[in-house]
Amino acid sequence: MDNMWKFIVVCITCVFPYSTVFAKCNITLNMLGYKEASCKHQGFTLVPMDLPPDIKKLDLSYNRLTRLYSNGFLRYKYLEYLLIDNNDIRWLHTTAFSSLSFLRHLSLSRNYLNVSESYPQGVFEPLNNLSVLDISRNMKYQDYNPYKIPVSGLSNLRELSIDLVFNATFGQQFKKLHNLQVLKLDYCHVNHLNNETFSEMPVNIREFHMTTCKYFVVIEGGVLIPFPHLKVLNLTNSNIHLAQALNILHPFQNKSMDALLFRGITRPDSKHSIDPVILTPEMMKYTYTICIKAMDLSANNIILVKNKSLVLFQRPECFETIIISANSFSVDSWEVDFVLFSFKMTNLKIIDISYFPLGFKNPTFLNVITKDNVTRVEKVQGKWARQHNSMTVLIPSQIHFFRITHMMTEGSFLEFKAKDSFLRHLEISYFETDFFPRINMEGFNSLEHLDLSGISSVKTIGDAKIPFLIHLKTLILRETNLINVLQTNITILRFCPNIMNLDISNNYIWKIKANSLGQLHNLKQLNLSHNLLETIPEVVTTFFSLDELDLSYNQLTTIGKNILGWIDNMHNKHGTFKLYLSNNPLICSCDTTKFLRWILTTKVELDNNGNYSCWVSSRKSINYTTNVAEDLHHYFVDCDNTVWIKVGISLLVSVLSSVLCIALLYNFRWRIMFFLFRNFRRFAEKGLELQFDYDVYISYSDDCVSFVKELQEKVEDEWGFKVCFEDRDFMIGESIATERATSINRCRHIIFLVTPSIVKNEWTRFEIERAKYEKFSKNLQKIVVITRDIPLDTIPIEFSTIWKDVLLIQWPVEKDEVQFAWQKLRLWFF
Ligand SMILES: *[C@@H]1O[C@H](CO)[C@@H](O)[C@H](O)[C@H]1NC(C)=O
Ligand SMILES: *[C@@H]1O[C@H](CO)[C@@H](O)[C@H](O)[C@H]1NC(C)=O
Ligand SMILES: *[C@@H]1O[C@H](CO)[C@@H](O)[C@H](O)[C@H]1NC(C)=O
Ligand SMILES: *[C@@H]1O[C@H](CO)[C@@H](O)[C@H](O)[C@H]1NC(C)=O
Ligand SMILES: *[C@@H]1O[C@H](CO)[C@@H](O)[C@H](O)[C@H]1NC(C)=O
Ligand SMILES: *[C@@H]1O[C@H](CO)[C@@H](O)[C@H](O)[C@H]1NC(C)=O
Ligand SMILES: *[C@@H]1O[C@H](CO)[C@@H](O)[C@H](O)[C@H]1NC(C)=O
Repeated sequence: MDNMWKFIVVCITCVFPYSTVFAKCNITLNMLGYKEASCKHQGFTLVPMDLPPDIKKLDLSYNRLTRLYSNGFLRYKYLEYLLIDNNDIRWLHTTAFSSLSFLRHLSLSRNYLNVSESYPQGVFEPLNNLSVLDISRNMKYQDYNPYKIPVSGLSNLRELSIDLVFNATFGQQFKKLHNLQVLKLDYCHVNHLNNETFSEMPVNIREFHMTTCKYFVVIEGGVLIPFPHLKVLNLTNSNIHLAQALNILHPFQNKSMDALLFRGITRPDSKHSIDPVILTPEMMKYTYTICIKAMDLSANNIILVKNKSLVLFQRPECFETIIISANSFSVDSWEVDFVLFSFKMTNLKIIDISYFPLGFKNPTFLNVITKDNVTRVEKVQGKWARQHNSMTVLIPSQIHFFRITHMMTEGSFLEFKAKDSFLRHLEISYFETDFFPRINMEGFNSLEHLDLSGISSVKTIGDAKIPFLIHLKTLILRETNLINVLQTNITILRFCPNIMNLDISNNYIWKIKANSLGQLHNLKQLNLSHNLLETIPEVVTTFFSLDELDLSYNQLTTIGKNILGWIDNMHNKHGTFKLYLSNNPLICSCDTTKFLRWILTTKVELDNNGNYSCWVSSRKSINYTTNVAEDLHHYFVDCDNTVWIKVGISLLVSVLSSVLCIALLYNFRWRIMFFLFRNFRRFAEKGLELQFDYDVYISYSDDCVSFVKELQEKVEDEWGFKVCFEDRDFMIGESIATERATSINRCRHIIFLVTPSIVKNEWTRFEIERAKYEKFSKNLQKIVVITRDIPLDTIPIEFSTIWKDVLLIQWPVEKDEVQFAWQKLRLWFF
């Protein structure tokens, strides 16, 4: 009955064939003038029958179709695109697609079609023009289901997306897909692929994607032999192990391939006792002879690269993109070889070597020397080299994109140098270094995008390490403590006068002096979010090209009249202006009514549609700016003169005191923050965007377990803070390094208990490195070292670089002194 009504309603609307809304579908004309019907999210249980018969595209995704009936699309015989994803289809009638001989693209993804039962013989027969078929993400469970999909008639099919079921064997009909080039296996339930699994697949496949296989897949070496013409092998996020992935490449020796995408295919798996990867030339031997354009080996738990195994490729000139991020091997040991090798990769455009979170004890540093046009590299050992800082890295001029981020190297580079370079994107960010390398651009440079986030700006801009970059359009300086250089007299952005986009968020900025940024005539986007601004700095009004200003997460209470006027002017001038103000402690009171009215009337594009939470002074409660602005009289009936005088006086007082406060705030910002942590912990953490699961991480070794217990009782039971330590809080099964790293990351502070045996404990070194890294990347607030029964000079040398950031307590033996030590600890933390 329900459907009947729907049909009637539907048919009334179809009397007017040229209106653009049919029943619940949107009809649009595409660029070529063909009709397209979009009927998403309309609750249809049947294919609507009232749409114009000449539509070329029909999108029925997100409806409630359960079956496709006989001749269901008879009316729409010109259809070329039919999308019925995300329905509940379980069954197709043999003649469901009859008459769709023009159909080129059919998508039935995310339904309940079973590869053995849902496809009757001949169902695809009418579709002899079909080029793309997507029947993936239907099989949600791991059961054995032989493929019985009658695909043999689809002689023009080029791309097939299908689920890879448990114990997959495909069947002879697939062999007939002579034009099939792209095979995408999406929901993946296999745990074993043997030499025959794909033997029934047609030979012309160029792209093979088998991604997100959840179970560990054992692969026999010959599995890719059926695909001699393969160009793209994408195994991203499948649980395979890199060693197996490299081993199945033997059919491609001496051929060329566009992409080998092996990101995240090696996961720790205790059940199959899967080890981390130690890369050897033996494992890589098949890749060496392949001409590879793009290779991604990131996130594979590679802990060691042996015998130059990453630089033995015989066709270096083929490489255009190399990504080897997020592994754990020592960069120091292969960077020499790799930099040298990069000069042979004459077509290389993109390099990403980032997220190497470990530090190393005796690094080998890199010394690239160029003399008379000959480049040589020298290895330099150990600490002396570090003090001399005499290393230069030449960036080959053909590279366009260079990213090196989240690294722990201690000042091993003196200089990044490029000559007549095509480099457009350079990202050197979040690495721990005492000394930032100079960036040197000789000849012409094309740099457009520079990201130096997470490295103290004192070391980069303050030391004038950046060359003049005339083409620079985007400069990103997040989390660089920029306030420190803003307080000096230098004009910090003189090196990039033409930038259009500047991001200086997360920099503790509470003030910007008039001349400190320089004349940025082309600046269009300015991001000042996550700072400590109480008013919008006047200096922004000198940027007359500005059309986007992000001031969210600051300390603004309102916006003054002048700035509002300026913003409206800019909007008139450019026809657009975006302003972000969310997460400021705005005040709705008598003296901010102007701002509140402005919010309602302005044409400027505001985030949250101008609806921000604000403190309503007259009600002493939080409400929303639009609520208040729409109801101003009601809220501020008694904004009379006496109030104005009061306001005037209090304003004066608050200006005076805020000058004082700002000075105090800056000098004592951490102490104030901790005061806030205690009292308004959640508020402050939100403001700083810090989320910790624990208050303190304790690093210790076996000989002080009893003291750890004592410490835990004191800190947790008496003081009420949460402690994280290995014996109790580590999850079983995670790799220990990962567990330690994440635990430290989740803690607000860290305590090292230094006892005689810690000197021998390897993990402590890791923890110190990690703590330095966290400290550096501004997560960790305090590092406390407690020594017991050990002379000071045996404290691990690794502490030396962070000594100034460390609070030291020599744990006393006398009882009353112990009491004092506890007090000291408590004070330091909180
Ligand atoms: C699978 O093929 C590889 C390579 O041709 C071969 O070495 C291996 O023995 C085969 N495995 C089985 C079980 O036939
Ligand atoms: C490889 O597979 C992943 C995961 O399915 C996908 O996001 C990515 O786009 C694929 N890469 C290419 C080049 O198709
Ligand atoms: C790798 O290097 C070690 C020593 O450095 C050597 O003993 C071994 O033979 C080398 N292996 C290969 C495959 O070159
Ligand atoms: C900045 O300049 C003023 C006057 O030009 C000078 O008095 C002051 O010392 C300078 N400050 C710094 C940090 O150089
Ligand atoms: C400004 O920076 C913050 C954090 O660094 C970021 O979340 C936000 O999206 C940026 N704003 C714009 C408009 O891009
Ligand atoms: C403003 O946002 C709040 C919270 O999201 C909401 O309750 C309120 O209705 C919004 N006001 C307007 C006028 O949209
Ligand atoms: C916020 O303002 C609206 C509109 O004036 C009012 O109805 C609502 O009660 C206020 N909410 C609070 C928590 O004061």
